[in-house]
Amino acid sequence: MLEDFKKHQAQTTPNPLGLHISKAQGSYIYDASDKAYLDLVAGVSACTLGHCHPKVVEAIQRQAESYMHVMVYGEFALEPAVNYSKVLTSYLPPSLQSVYLVNSGTEAVEGSIKLAKRITGRYELVSMRSSYHGNTMGSMSVSGMAHQKDAFRPLMPGVRFIRFNHVEDLEQITERTAAVILETIQGGAGFILPNPGYLQAVRERCSAVGAQLVFDEIQPGFGRTGRLFAFMHDEVVPDILVIGKGMASGLPCGAFVASGEKMKELQSNPKLGHITTFGGNPVVAAASLATLQALMAEGLMEQALEKEVYLRDRLQHASILEVRGKGLMLAVILKDKDTANSLILRSMNLGLLSFWLLFEPRAFRLTPPLTISFEELKFACDTILTLLDEI
Ligand SMILES: Cc1ncc(COP(=O)(O)O)c(C=O)c1O
Repeated sequence: MLEDFKKHQAQTTPNPLGLHISKAQGSYIYDASDKAYLDLVAGVSACTLGHCHPKVVEAIQRQAESYMHVMVYGEFALEPAVNYSKVLTSYLPPSLQSVYLVNSGTEAVEGSIKLAKRITGRYELVSMRSSYHGNTMGSMSVSGMAHQKDAFRPLMPGVRFIRFNHVEDLEQITERTAAVILETIQGGAGFILPNPGYLQAVRERCSAVGAQLVFDEIQPGFGRTGRLFAFMHDEVVPDILVIGKGMASGLPCGAFVASGEKMKELQSNPKLGHITTFGGNPVVAAASLATLQALMAEGLMEQALEKEVYLRDRLQHASILEVRGKGLMLAVILKDKDTANSLILRSMNLGLLSFWLLFEPRAFRLTPPLTISFEELKFACDTILTLLDEI
C-alpha cells in the first residue's frame, strides 16, 4: 500500500507521514493495525465536529440518496445550497447576505479577487507579508511567502505586500487599490493574532479610499476561535468574506460572501462572471448545514475558549516559548525546529497526531476537532510534556 501510495499518487514532499488509515471516529483516527491516534490536526482545521459526526453522516446519506449532482452552479434552485446560504447568512451582518459556494478555499479566494476587481474597476491588490491564501495562481500571487512562489513566476501582476499589524503601512492602500486581503489570524505564519484595533484601522483605510476589504477566514472560521468567525471578536465587517475548511466537517468546500448588490457584478459584462461545475454541490451543502446546526446547538464555540484556557494552563515547559493563537486554533511554539520535529514524530508513536504549520518550523499544531473532550486534552498535554522532558 505504501509503495503504491508513493508510486501512483503524486507526491509534493519526499517524506510524507504515510499513515495508512482504516477509519476515523470522533477525536480519533485509526491506522491499518487499528491503532488509535488522538487527532490534534482535524484534517488541518477542517473536521470541526470531529470524524464522522452522526448528524453530518446522516445529512450526507439522506442527500446522496435523493440527488447528488444535477447541474452546474447557480442554474437550478437546489434546496441544500439555498437552505445553507439562508441559514449561514442569518448569522452574518446585513452587508454579507449573498453566498457564492465553491469547492475549496483557494477557489473562494480567486472568486473574491475577481469580485473585488469588478466592484471597483481597479486591479491593484494589497496583501500581507507572510500570508497564505491558497495554491492556485491568483491566490498564490496574493500569498506572502516569496520562496514558495519564485519557481512559478510570472504571477498575477499588481500585488503589493505590506506588513501585518503595522498600521504605518496602511498608507500604501490607495485609490488605485481594488482590494486588501488578509487572514484575520495569520495561519501559515504561526497563528499570529491581529493587534487590538488593527483590523479596524484596515477597515477605515479601505473605506476611505474605496478599496474592498476581504477577510480570509478559511482557517479560523466556523467556531475555531470561539466565535463563528474570528472577525466577530473585533466587530469589524469585511466587504467580502472568504470561508472554507471547517464549513462542511471534512467535505471539499468554500465560499465567498458579499452583499447581494455587489455580487450582482458577476451577472453582467460579462455574464457568468464566475462559473463552477460542482460549487454548491448538494451533498456538500447538506453536510455544511448539518455542521453549522450542530456547531450552534452543541455549545462548541463557548467550549473552544474554555479548552484554550485549559491548554494554556497545562502547557508550561522550559522548551515551550509560547502557546499562540485563539480558541482551538493554537500552536505550541517550541524553542527550535528540531524540538518541534522530534515532538511531532514521537507523539505519533504514542498515539497523538499533530502536524507542522506551513511557515513556522518551531510550531506543534493544536487544532483538534472542536468536539474534543477535556479528558482527551489531558492525554494530549500529558504526552506533550512527558516527551518534552525526554527530548
Ligand atoms: C487562510 C487560508 N486561506 C486559503 C487556504 C486555501 O484553502 P484550500 O486548501 O481549501 O484551497 C488555506 C488552506 O490552508 C488557508 O489556511
